[in-house]
Amino acid sequence: TSLRRFCRELPKAELHVHLEGCLEPGLLLDLARRNEVDVPWRTEDELRAAYRFRDLASFLDLYFAGCRVLRKRQDFYDLTTAHLDRAHQDGVAHTELFFGPQTFTEQGIALETVLDGVLDAIADAGERTGISASLLVSAHRHRGEDEAFALLDSVLPWADRVAGFGMGGAETGNPPEKFVRYYAELRRQGFRTCVHAGEEGPAAYVRQAFELLAPDRIDHGITILDDPGLVREIAAAGTPLTVCPVSNVRLRAVPSLREHPLPRMLDAGLNVSLHSDDPAYFESGLADTFATTAHDLGLDRPTLTALARNGVRSSFLPPTARHALL
Ligand code: HPA
Ligand code: ZN
Repeated sequence: TSLRRFCRELPKAELHVHLEGCLEPGLLLDLARRNEVDVPWRTEDELRAAYRFRDLASFLDLYFAGCRVLRKRQDFYDLTTAHLDRAHQDGVAHTELFFGPQTFTEQGIALETVLDGVLDAIADAGERTGISASLLVSAHRHRGEDEAFALLDSVLPWADRVAGFGMGGAETGNPPEKFVRYYAELRRQGFRTCVHAGEEGPAAYVRQAFELLAPDRIDHGITILDDPGLVREIAAAGTPLTVCPVSNVRLRAVPSLREHPLPRMLDAGLNVSLHSDDPAYFESGLADTFATTAHDLGLDRPTLTALARNGVRSSFLPPTARHALL
């Protein structure tokens, strides 16, 4: 079989993908028309031409601009449905979707509009295709800890349908140490946690995340290699690192896929798995991410299988459901 087909058929768990980053150009422009939101792009080609990022911050500007077209419950339903159908086609058996309600509640959209649209789509997609999906409520680190606490309180009515909590947004200048009390509270309430760290922030931020926040998973973590002692500690702890090579290249955290640290991370014994991050904006779903990463880094099929199995094992599924995918 071709590499592409092998990667599609591999049973995969997608653990690092932002639902807002799954908004494809066609749907974005449809929603802009439906909701009469002014956007600076008239065609899909014009929008795609804007997918040239200098860094994380320049990407986040476009990502949040795209979010402005999402207004109604049906919009969140349509976004989630379209993504889950693509993920199913891509051979994703289970996915944990980051979603950041603060973007929308700040614009006066009710939390139930947002969450019920997403959660209904997750339930319906499961019935239609069999894909298993759950929600990771994501706070924005650039908004600070008080707002993260307010977010936690506001989503508690949905707690039984939330698989865990994460944190993304602008990393530089917003180190994990700002969120020690928030993560302690999440753990006190029994929630699973993850945190973006070491995407473009230094290894010191990954160390802070690991030591001060004690997350169940670390998202990205690629700058960890600058601190060999930390690599040994995190490898020994088995803490999963959800790596997104195509994203790292698009956001210029690494110069090219061929220079990506993934092989060194594997050699160091870290628990790494492969993910897409923002498939619409980086123009790469999970199967393509596996295939292009394998091609450019020369990964063999047993390595790809191991990466996929790491993802399944690192999921927040109950043990029996995890086992069924291995
Ligand atoms: N990093 C931080 N925040 C994000 C990202 C990312 O890659 N994608 C969406 N939000
Ligand atoms: Zn991310």
